[in-house]
Amino acid sequence: MAAVHPSRTHEWWRDAVIYQVYPRSFADGDGDGTGDLAGVRANLPYLRQLGVDAVWFTPWYLSPLVDGGYDVADYRTIDPAFGTLDDAEKLIAEAAEHGIKVIVDIVPNHVSDQHAWFRAALAAGPGSPERERFHFRPGRGEHGELPPNNWPSQFSGDTWTRVPDGEWYLHLFTPEQPDLNWNHPDVRREHEDVLRFWFERGVAGVRIDSAALLTKHPDLPDFTEGADAHPYIDQDEIHDIYRSWRAIADAYDGVFVGEVWLPDSERFARYLRPDELHTAFNFNFLACPWDPDSLRRTIDDTLAEHAPVHAPATWVLCNHDVTRTATRYGREDTGFDFAKKRFGTPTDPELGTRRARAAALLTLALPGSVYLYQGEELGLPEADIPRDRIQDPMHFRSGGTDPGRDGCRVPLPWKAEAPSFGFGTPPGTEPWLPQPADWARYAVDRQSADADSMLTLYRTALGLRRTHPGLGDGPMRWLPAGDGVLAFAREHGLICVVNLSPAPVELPAHSALLLTSGPLDPAGTLPPDTAAWLQA
Ligand code: GLC
Repeated sequence: MAAVHPSRTHEWWRDAVIYQVYPRSFADGDGDGTGDLAGVRANLPYLRQLGVDAVWFTPWYLSPLVDGGYDVADYRTIDPAFGTLDDAEKLIAEAAEHGIKVIVDIVPNHVSDQHAWFRAALAAGPGSPERERFHFRPGRGEHGELPPNNWPSQFSGDTWTRVPDGEWYLHLFTPEQPDLNWNHPDVRREHEDVLRFWFERGVAGVRIDSAALLTKHPDLPDFTEGADAHPYIDQDEIHDIYRSWRAIADAYDGVFVGEVWLPDSERFARYLRPDELHTAFNFNFLACPWDPDSLRRTIDDTLAEHAPVHAPATWVLCNHDVTRTATRYGREDTGFDFAKKRFGTPTDPELGTRRARAAALLTLALPGSVYLYQGEELGLPEADIPRDRIQDPMHFRSGGTDPGRDGCRVPLPWKAEAPSFGFGTPPGTEPWLPQPADWARYAVDRQSADADSMLTLYRTALGLRRTHPGLGDGPMRWLPAGDGVLAFAREHGLICVVNLSPAPVELPAHSALLLTSGPLDPAGTLPPDTAAWLQA
């Protein structure tokens, strides 16, 4: 095996490739239709062969699964659908044997309505200390029949629900996800304890869900469109929480990645100050259209906003909340916008796949760490889910106008010829979401045997990224290039060229062609929507 370059042995998170596992849809070890930890354990060799450094698991805790596990009933218990705490501990240990670190997902903004605290709060009634851990308020209007304020939801629909005794409680997401009151000492203490609980079990990092939403303006004032300050997004007090979390992580050498959706780059960078979070997801890159100027601007802005706080950038193309890359890039509007996600948006699958391949090489050549959502390495498209099988609350809360996020959460195809494409669900039982009938072509076994498949491209690119000293963390420099072409150099002679123009382009001078996302033209030029890694 080739030597691993030294930057990889220290501050691993600065240039790691982190694979996102959505446990429900990765592999079904016990054949009940839902993916589980046994399924992940059985496929750790697959992840090692793919060449990832770490795995981030979306929530695996006890949960009614109203919002795919982002409604946590107990942080110290694994949901029986996924396994047991013992399975999780074994998984963490076995992953380490494969050289893979584990990142867990913590959801501090809210809990499930089945969490012991919320049940106690409902039972204890108005004015009780139990209610103070949440945001309970009397309603407005003559009889308290109106919600306490006008806050917009993070999903469509209401943010307040009234309980039988007349009080209302706040939930930025679904009613089954009551928001916690972060001014309450119990809330802070409990989460610090949960962090220790998982660090003690050997996890290397924690992803923080909805990380900019925790603290609310103490008066819960109405939201005013266009006002400077938002009453619940990015309150200044939130940084105090992350400073105390950082001290805990440091004691275990653990790292954080924050889910911070903020358009203002200066505000975003505050979360990455040296005594706060190590990294945060780069959603501007994820949302960016497949357009050379927008991409270049987003890359420059990203690097510029991270530099003053010395934090590495992250590069993200997809996750469990957004349209699959191959589908998005095949649409006329290649950017990502929740509001524009609609049923039946036409896509050109061949074009989308070509661009997704080029985007993989672009992303993996940029300085920083990379998040790879399960199934992206297979080039999976967004699946059409029949309406009567949709599970995502986003769909229902939009009144059925938004198809929701299930189309990117479909169980993975492992074997072209097996029932449930080798996901593990036997005949007679159906996977929790239906797999499209034509997915045999995306199956791992079929792609493994194909030198031109998306899986082979990812395996090769990740292998090069592990061994080439120019890839990962470090500087980059734009090279002169024609219209519509992105070309940049990394250290040690690595050059990445992406052709987003409609015509073929000449490659810059090079001594070796390391990898291309698709075949070069017979004349040696780089075709449209194709990327190349070169050695100068
Ligand atoms: C985050 C998660 C998403 C979830 C929401 C509420 O955005 O990624 O899946 O629905 O938070 O917890």
